[in-house]
Amino acid sequence: EKGGYDHFMLKEIYEQPRAILDTYRGRLLASQGIIKMAGIDQNIEKFLNANRIIIVACGTSWHAGLVAEYIFEDLARIPVEVEYASEFRYRNPVITDKDVLIAISQSGETADTLAAIKLAKEKGAFVFGVCNVVGSSIARETNAGAYTHAGPEIGVASTKAFTTQITVLTLLALKLAKEKGVFSETKFHEYLAELENIPAKVERALQSNTVVEKIAEVYKDSTNCLYLGRGYNFPVALEGALKLKEISYIHAEGYPAAEMKHGPIALIDEHMPVVVIATNRGHYDKVVSNIQEIKSRKGKIIAVVTEGDETVRDLADYIIEVPDTLESLTPLLTTIPLQLLSYHIAVMRGCNVDQPRNLAKSVTVE
Ligand code: F6R
Repeated sequence: EKGGYDHFMLKEIYEQPRAILDTYRGRLLASQGIIKMAGIDQNIEKFLNANRIIIVACGTSWHAGLVAEYIFEDLARIPVEVEYASEFRYRNPVITDKDVLIAISQSGETADTLAAIKLAKEKGAFVFGVCNVVGSSIARETNAGAYTHAGPEIGVASTKAFTTQITVLTLLALKLAKEKGVFSETKFHEYLAELENIPAKVERALQSNTVVEKIAEVYKDSTNCLYLGRGYNFPVALEGALKLKEISYIHAEGYPAAEMKHGPIALIDEHMPVVVIATNRGHYDKVVSNIQEIKSRKGKIIAVVTEGDETVRDLADYIIEVPDTLESLTPLLTTIPLQLLSYHIAVMRGCNVDQPRNLAKSVTVE
């Protein structure tokens, strides 16, 4: 059942090239220059006339929502707010029938997300679901939706659900960008073609496993760990930290790299590993100067870089390479080594990777 892997989590990490392909299969018709998604095609006016998109979710799905915020605003020029479902539902939010709410949930059973959906529907918003589990409560409660088609996710720590959620939301954003006319044909085609390259590039990112395992060996006894990223990779930093803390029980925090000097920099000394996402696109120079700041305080730097990077290689203690891609698609690649890193550290610490203490796969109570 684990397909030869020691844990479901590892199996599911390795399933990602296939899961992403399954997510866009039949939807992304690159040669025809079309994205076909029934749930969106039938409701396109709702999206195009929306004043804003509100995304609600919890945990890892909330991180996918944060990535989607960057994608929707950057590509489709639609204002987006991302909310923890648990906060949104209780803060008397301003919602109108001009709002579109997107609920993201792997299980489709998360109580707070379900409650947020009901509230938004009562106020007249159009509610769109991005779920993995077919026929789940959230899939049934939403007005329309798109499944992630990741296949069953058994490991409690979410992995392939995250990358496939981002894939669905990217397809949606691209479709809206095209419909709104904010994207040239050339740019649209460039994105479609690059999306088709992603499964093979995820496969290449998975080859970082050997170096990641060595890094895990070095840092497995750490008590704290900081994750930094900017732009599209800020949510990836949050997700990397969540993965580490939930399965290895090491305290970890994710921050936007530039926020470091507003507080967390005080934590940095020779015992603090700092995982920095420093791919070549988007704020690269600024992240490099953040790395220099960490180094001058003797922090240990583990950097996720684009293949062939020279600058960060000289500064970092360890580098992990991922293939180059369009900036907005980098989270699909940079996430991979961070999943592997938490996996290996958790295994080395003797933790129950697939069933971490105190956690449940679906949180059906608030
Ligand atoms: C993290 C994790 C949780 C879930 C969260 C939302 O690895 O698994 O943080 O992401 O409980 O669950 P869903 O997506 O099922 O609504």
